[in-house]
Amino acid sequence: MNSILNSYLYNAICFLYNMQMRKKVTIIGAGHVGASTAQLLTYEDMADVVLFDVVEGMPQGKALDLSEACPLYRSSVSITGTNDMADIKGSDVVVITAGIARRPGMSRDDLLNTNANILNGISADVARFCPDCVVIVVTNPMDVMAQLVWRKSGLAKERVMGMGAILDSARFRTFVAWQLKVSPEAVEALTLGGHGDQMVPMPRFTTVKGVSITELLPEDVIKQLVERTRNGGAEVVSLLKTGSAYYAPAASTVQMIKAVLFDEKQVLSAACLLEGQYGVDGVYTGVPAVLGKGGVEKIIELDLNAQERSDFQYSVNAVRGLLEKLNL
Ligand code: NAI
Ligand code: 2OP
Repeated sequence: MNSILNSYLYNAICFLYNMQMRKKVTIIGAGHVGASTAQLLTYEDMADVVLFDVVEGMPQGKALDLSEACPLYRSSVSITGTNDMADIKGSDVVVITAGIARRPGMSRDDLLNTNANILNGISADVARFCPDCVVIVVTNPMDVMAQLVWRKSGLAKERVMGMGAILDSARFRTFVAWQLKVSPEAVEALTLGGHGDQMVPMPRFTTVKGVSITELLPEDVIKQLVERTRNGGAEVVSLLKTGSAYYAPAASTVQMIKAVLFDEKQVLSAACLLEGQYGVDGVYTGVPAVLGKGGVEKIIELDLNAQERSDFQYSVNAVRGLLEKLNL
């Protein structure tokens, strides 16, 4: 009898301890990417989740549905759906997926003005309620939106980053794995620059168990895989017809959240503010970085050859063009 009581007591103490220690992640925009991110966080029992959206009832409904999955996921996180920004208070990480998504025929850049207006308002609220959080911007055109959130929120540059290059790299990894008939996990890939049509997949830094694909595949095949990666988002949009990708984007976002929440010091590509690195000043764009509890803890500079440098500059110039349209 005593041992049963002790075991109940032990479990109760563990439960209370976990509740106190648990981190809080807010997702602003409870649409496809936001809800899929919340589902992964719940499934992995990673953090308490607040799902915010402007549509009344929708984040509450998704939060209730996810809460009811907790016993099946063996998860004890709490999930709150809300239309009240005050509920995001004290979040460790805020993910922004609010805004409109692409439809067939639209590029990410066509979303610029609508999403800029939406993120303007959100930035002020994030700064007000979560001055110590790390923000991960997903909304497109992502590099520009990350720069907007950084400027409008007044948060330190290390605390605002964008998700895009992990997704682009995951697509590149998938296509390389299919081509070589190996597990996608065996493939590491790198993409740099903006998360747009001018992104820069980097074959020289893309490897299968350490061997560069430039030694494993002919040049014309690599070119096709690079092109498919650049069009990866559009390929999904053209099949879905009503919106854009969300499973791989959510999985990519969760990698970043995890790196920050658990201070992992992971080397992951993220849109970061460059201040002289890669010869670029004052622009958010995708580069490899060390991610930990402080957000972007270090930007890693790779030694690029002339072609890679020129492709990277071309991509950065495309981001600059959009920044100018918003006077950022
Ligand atoms: P979605 O349309 O399913 O969800 C967007 C949600 O934002 C909707 O629920 C909408 O009600 C909400 N929303 C609109 N205004 C809001 C506001 N002021 N505050 C809070 N919520 C608001 O779109 P989806 O598929 O989830 O995509 C979201 C964004 O993420 C799009 O801009 C899309 O282009 C982008 N995206 C970026 C990726 C990346 O790699 N960076 C990958 C996939 C999507
Ligand atoms: C994607 O790459 C739309 O940015 C989104 O799927």
